[in-house]
Amino acid sequence: MKVLVLGGGGREHCLAWKLSQSPLVETIFCVPGNGGTATVPKVVNIALDPLDFPALVQLVQVQGIDWGIVGPEVPLAAGVVDYFQARGLALIGPTQQGAQIESSKAWAKDLMAEAGVPTAKAGVFRELAPALAYLKQAIWPLVVKADGLAQGKGVTIAPNYAEAAQALTACFAGGQTQVVLEDFLVGEEVSVLALTDGRVVVPLLAAQDHKTIGEGDTGPNTGGMGAYAPLDWLTPATLVKIQKLILEPTLRGLQARGITYRGILYAGLMIDAAGEPAVVEFNCRLGDPETQAVLPLLQTDFAHVCKAILDGTLDQLILTWANGYAATVVVTAAGYPGVYAKGDPITGLDQGPGLIFHAGTAGDASSWTTQGGRVLAVTGLAKSLRAALDVCHQTIARVHFPGMYYRRDIGFKALDRT
Ligand code: AMP
Ligand code: GLY
Repeated sequence: MKVLVLGGGGREHCLAWKLSQSPLVETIFCVPGNGGTATVPKVVNIALDPLDFPALVQLVQVQGIDWGIVGPEVPLAAGVVDYFQARGLALIGPTQQGAQIESSKAWAKDLMAEAGVPTAKAGVFRELAPALAYLKQAIWPLVVKADGLAQGKGVTIAPNYAEAAQALTACFAGGQTQVVLEDFLVGEEVSVLALTDGRVVVPLLAAQDHKTIGEGDTGPNTGGMGAYAPLDWLTPATLVKIQKLILEPTLRGLQARGITYRGILYAGLMIDAAGEPAVVEFNCRLGDPETQAVLPLLQTDFAHVCKAILDGTLDQLILTWANGYAATVVVTAAGYPGVYAKGDPITGLDQGPGLIFHAGTAGDASSWTTQGGRVLAVTGLAKSLRAALDVCHQTIARVHFPGMYYRRDIGFKALDRT
């Protein structure tokens, strides 16, 4: 079969790499892909804009592409799946209506309230004055969230009135029509990427992402600095609660709204000291870098998994996982998540001993350069988490570019427990 991968980051490099291992897959068209996807067997990069829907449909029709999968949230929120479905074409991801679970935090909060899904108490505000009035009786810290997509920059954890008021003012001034003010949840963050065909919902291995730039989980938030899976410290009882109290009721809530949600439901969760999960946010897509840690452990043919999502046969699928652990360490350009340099030469990108997924590179094997804030995601696989991290570090030791940075403490909370 011929397949389409929409997007061009580290997550999409990993998706293309995983699909390339399937004997069912003949060609993978990556739109636009990146320098890393171009090195994957069976991959053809196509320089199209993932938001140019007519051009995508033309590509699918001319090339005879059987189905596709969408990496990032922006095309989903813009309705790429609706556009394909209206033309009888198969694309994995929710429709625009379903994608609101990520593209509108107020919508997601409302859905959770309706479905009885545990999450932080919140208020939704459409104007500045009542939002400022709400702050008067807030318990600090308070979380200020822009309603719409904000490239990971829409959330402020405000320790006091002044910072909350500043964040609120910035949200409305920046064009947000709604802002969510939410209680701060305490605990351990977990990412559960779940597959759904609209009827059943099947979680992949749980992962933990490290969102902040600094070691010890300090400093500003980023898209994600590293992840690991599986999480030994997550008990079977908590996993059952995630399934029964969060994933299944959310799917039922979507169904009750008349939405057939097909694709990935990413639950960003906080697990409290008693092991009780609550939703921090939902995303309508795979996580980056969680995907680069989770997919390499999947033994089931991923093309087969994708077909089951599209065909509505997930209930018949049994996922099998490799024993052992995966750790992913993200390597960034100096300055990220603020202003960062581009165009610096990168050396040492030959694969091994870990897997190197390109996120923000340009060029080809004769000369690679940096082109994004998150430049690479390096995954190590091994029998223990510590050994998997060692593989990451050995791989990164061979890579060089000016100002390269990565966190040396990915997985530290799990290691501290052992
Ligand atoms: P989000 O974009 O909603 O994932 O928020 C980004 C990050 O902010 C999350 O990964 C959390 O680390 C943090 N965060 C968001 N909402 C809350 C909350 N209610 N309580 C504690 N931390 C939160
Ligand atoms: N790693 C966080 C995200 O993909 O949203």
